[in-house]
Amino acid sequence: MPKIYKCTGSVIRKSASALKTGCLVVFPTETVYGLGADATNKHAVARIYEVKKRPYSHPLIVHISSSSFLEIWARKIPDYALKLATDFWPGPMTLILQRSSLAKDFVTGGQNSIALRVPSHHIAQKLLNDFNEFEGLGIAAPSANMFGKVSPTNATHVLNDLSHNLNSQDIILNSGSSQVGIESTIIDCTKFLPYVLRPGFITKEMIESSLSIKLKDFTGNTKVRTSGVFPSHYAPIARVFLSGMPKKGDGFIALKSIKTPLGAYRLASPKNEIEFAKVLYKSLRLGDDKKLPNIYIVPPSNNGIGRAVNDRLSKIANIAKVI
Ligand code: TXA
Ligand code: MG
Repeated sequence: MPKIYKCTGSVIRKSASALKTGCLVVFPTETVYGLGADATNKHAVARIYEVKKRPYSHPLIVHISSSSFLEIWARKIPDYALKLATDFWPGPMTLILQRSSLAKDFVTGGQNSIALRVPSHHIAQKLLNDFNEFEGLGIAAPSANMFGKVSPTNATHVLNDLSHNLNSQDIILNSGSSQVGIESTIIDCTKFLPYVLRPGFITKEMIESSLSIKLKDFTGNTKVRTSGVFPSHYAPIARVFLSGMPKKGDGFIALKSIKTPLGAYRLASPKNEIEFAKVLYKSLRLGDDKKLPNIYIVPPSNNGIGRAVNDRLSKIANIAKVI
């Protein structure tokens, strides 16, 4: 069993040193919790895949403390990517760039690109800075859940999902609930123009305004192995429906302004799209804990982060159809 800690300064320092010796450290970010390993350590990174039961071809995001590490991990960085980094880092945004020779196949899934992110969460920031002091260059970290399941937004979710696969040297840093609640916006910056592969808190409109351009919509036609391109992502055990009426004992998630249908079990009542994102995964997990067979969700509008919520909902509901 891994050890779970409150995030004091000395615990974070100890975690950074544990990473350097090849251990795994689960840490909070502003989006979801990450399962971290030294991104230059082949064996440590291999353990991420074992623990999550994730296919080796599925690349990882390397978390860095600041943009000053961009040039170490990436090459031929387009100006627009530098502008995005200036405007939105630290924050919930991941950039896909051409990889440098430091980014090995074991972290990129054999692709010639690398995913990089500077998280803003103060614990993640301190962990990364301490790791730099131990000469660490980056922390590879996927969401700390079993492959294909709902991402964890608190340390209890991580314990429930991964504790049996982690060992006593591994560390879980507990810092309450994630602020954003869904995974970072992923932007492909390997082409002439940027392309949003996974919507998130940093919206298409924010990117367009930062770069003064109009972005093309994601069509799903990509060879890149990003979440969302896979049909089996973000799945709870319950079957999820985005239309129709719940029956007695079914779960129900909708904005606060929408009444609970008679007999349904209200799992969440977010007051806007931002709160919808924050509570979505937690509510789906609650539905599973209560062993609800079906969860009915009334999707929010596509405004702001609502687009990212609807992206995740469409994946979840697709699963329901193929079960
Ligand atoms: O918010 C987040 O992004 C969280 C926190 C922990 O940072 N991380 C996260 O990681 O969601 P993960 O592994 O669950 O999702 C990262 C996605 C994967 O679908 C992966 O395929 C994609 O990023 N990805 C990683 N490297 C890539 C690359 N070189 N090209 C395209 N997609 C890539
Ligand atoms: Mg994930």
